[in-house]
Amino acid sequence: MHSAQQIKALQDKKDIIVMAFESSCDETAAAIVKNGREVLGNAVYTQIAIHREFGGVVPEIASRNHVAKLPIVAEQALLEAGLSFADIDAFAVTSGPGLVGALLTGVSYAKGLSFALKKPLIPVNHMEGHVSANFISDQDLEPPFICLVVSGGHTSILLVEDYGKYRELGTTRDDAAGEAFDKIARVLGLPYPGGPALQELAKGGNDEAYTFPKAFKGETHLDFSFSGLKTAAINLIRKLERQDPDFNKADLAASFQKAVVSTLIKNAFEAARREGMDKLVLAGGVCANTLLRSEADRLSKKYGIALTYPKLAYCTDNAAMIASAAYFTMNRGCAKLDLNADPSLDVTGKTPAYL
Ligand code: KG4
Ligand code: ZN
Repeated sequence: MHSAQQIKALQDKKDIIVMAFESSCDETAAAIVKNGREVLGNAVYTQIAIHREFGGVVPEIASRNHVAKLPIVAEQALLEAGLSFADIDAFAVTSGPGLVGALLTGVSYAKGLSFALKKPLIPVNHMEGHVSANFISDQDLEPPFICLVVSGGHTSILLVEDYGKYRELGTTRDDAAGEAFDKIARVLGLPYPGGPALQELAKGGNDEAYTFPKAFKGETHLDFSFSGLKTAAINLIRKLERQDPDFNKADLAASFQKAVVSTLIKNAFEAARREGMDKLVLAGGVCANTLLRSEADRLSKKYGIALTYPKLAYCTDNAAMIASAAYFTMNRGCAKLDLNADPSLDVTGKTPAYL
């Protein structure tokens, strides 16, 4: 069937059940979501323990584990939903951005299912997935809103004008916030992934012990830069280690966390103010951070801005957010069998290159 006809037939249905797969990094995930908001089944197999001994994700090992685990998480999601493949209206898959080999495993698996079961396949941008996690956690959320997207590989502020329509208001010029957390955690000797471990260490620390340089002081754009902060923190850690190998790491972690969070928050609220938006949404793995969430809570009350962030389970990588994004963007059309993984797929690109 022609893809436009397939999508039309889908949209005529009262309830649409999408089954999605996510394999862009080190989580192998499958989920089943009804009408973009109601999660019927959600299974995540995290490879964190496997990659921990290497201090970060090893792409080839990630791909091999995705291949082994995709059928298992698919089975789990179906079991939880009490459904079979025959009940699925459309499949969806993360086709980028991410690790190319890892993405290919999910794309190939989903293409196989779509072909064999004659159901449409909707390709999804991973970052669009992170934004859409909020449609699950907040059933009433609708665009337009400002979204601060903070993950391991991306940090940006988007104006979400409509479902699937984004304008980038600011982005990082170097490292992503999650990358900075992971790097400093590693230098402090904490296990991968660094973000949650650094947050835990910071709990007992004094966040005013150290001050770090602020990037772009006095400039008016909304971009981020974390590499200067990262280098300053590494140099400080080396200096403190030389002075006393048992220096207070919790103070360092708390001060560093505060520096990252305050920059993220400042630009996000400034974006809302400039665009006259009264809704701010957080997305991506780093928005699991408790300080980021509590600071955003505090300022949203102060400025009278409605704040939404996903439940913790939907902050880090999962497939429910991919199914939700697929539901809200299916009018773009569905993929053909030559769908490929695109490791640098851009969320603000007008027409997804994969359709
Ligand atoms: O969105 P995500 O699961 O994967 C990517 O798409 O990159 O984000 C993973 C990132 C990692 O850098 C991880 O350290 C960070 O999110 N992260 C956190 C926290 N939980 C996860 N960073 C700070 N605080 C946390 N609680
Ligand atoms: Zn992610």
